[in-house]
Amino acid sequence: MNFITQNDITNIPKLVAEALELKASPLAYNHLGKGKTLGLLFFNNSLRTRISTQKAAQNLGLDNIVLSASDGWKLEFEDGAVMNLDKSEHIKEAAAVMSQYFDILGIRAFPTLQNQIEDYNEKLFSAFQKYASIPILNLESSTQHPLQAVADLITIEEYKKVRKPKIVLSWAPHPKALPQAVPNSFAVWTQAAGYDLTITHPKGMELSPDFVGNATVEYNQEKAFEGADFIYTKNWSSFKDYGKPLQNHDNWMITQEKMALTNNGYFMHCLPVRRNVVVEDAVLDSRQSLTIQQANNRTFAAQAVLKRMLL
Ligand code: CP
Repeated sequence: MNFITQNDITNIPKLVAEALELKASPLAYNHLGKGKTLGLLFFNNSLRTRISTQKAAQNLGLDNIVLSASDGWKLEFEDGAVMNLDKSEHIKEAAAVMSQYFDILGIRAFPTLQNQIEDYNEKLFSAFQKYASIPILNLESSTQHPLQAVADLITIEEYKKVRKPKIVLSWAPHPKALPQAVPNSFAVWTQAAGYDLTITHPKGMELSPDFVGNATVEYNQEKAFEGADFIYTKNWSSFKDYGKPLQNHDNWMITQEKMALTNNGYFMHCLPVRRNVVVEDAVLDSRQSLTIQQANNRTFAAQAVLKRMLL
């Protein structure tokens, strides 16, 4: 079984329940990974994904080896390429060779934010899926961050006070152009789990319709916040004007005043977060912030997924 998108998981509420069972007894399945090795290939930096996935593997008795390729390891993807420039290894060999050493291969690779077609076709993940002979685990691809979304669903399950809470995904300012992977995944996974979702962002920052699905789009952030139980905040760059950041929208920062419009709602963010740019200290340091709980749940999200991949 690959784990690339929500379509690889049957019965998402059951996966969340399995993760909560593992959280209660992290070592209950520590025989499952015995004699097997998880490879973790990072083309970009990571704190949470790297450590939580290693911890999840460790809890399942699964050895893991991390390979950092963020220091300029350039792979060739084109068939028939004459490799006389800076790319020293073809994906065909790289994927096939790693398949000799590992039983599962996790990959993190951010989008270029230059070429929308290649990014949204998941060029790198598709190539690894084609040339590797072992299951692939998505540690954040160009368009999706499914392990983050599973951790977010676990956190919502733990803190919700009603069966169908009001969940709002809010754009927030950021000085750099960031991928759409986290909001894309949050949108599809919450809806696939049976929740209604409201997305609020400035005009022009619409996500891909494939990920928005049936969510309500509300351009008035304060109106969207009214009565909300969970405010999930994230910056993303433009999908339409692909990869361009939106400047001069500091008034979209999450503040105490805005949180006061909610139903004593919780604040969520995948981290890392820029304080007093995305969200002010008073919100992030409040009891309503669930960011550390989300980070903790990354371990059990990864463990629940790895457990299914090993069974
Ligand atoms: N949320 C998240 O994926 O964090 P890292 O980039 O540190 O892995």
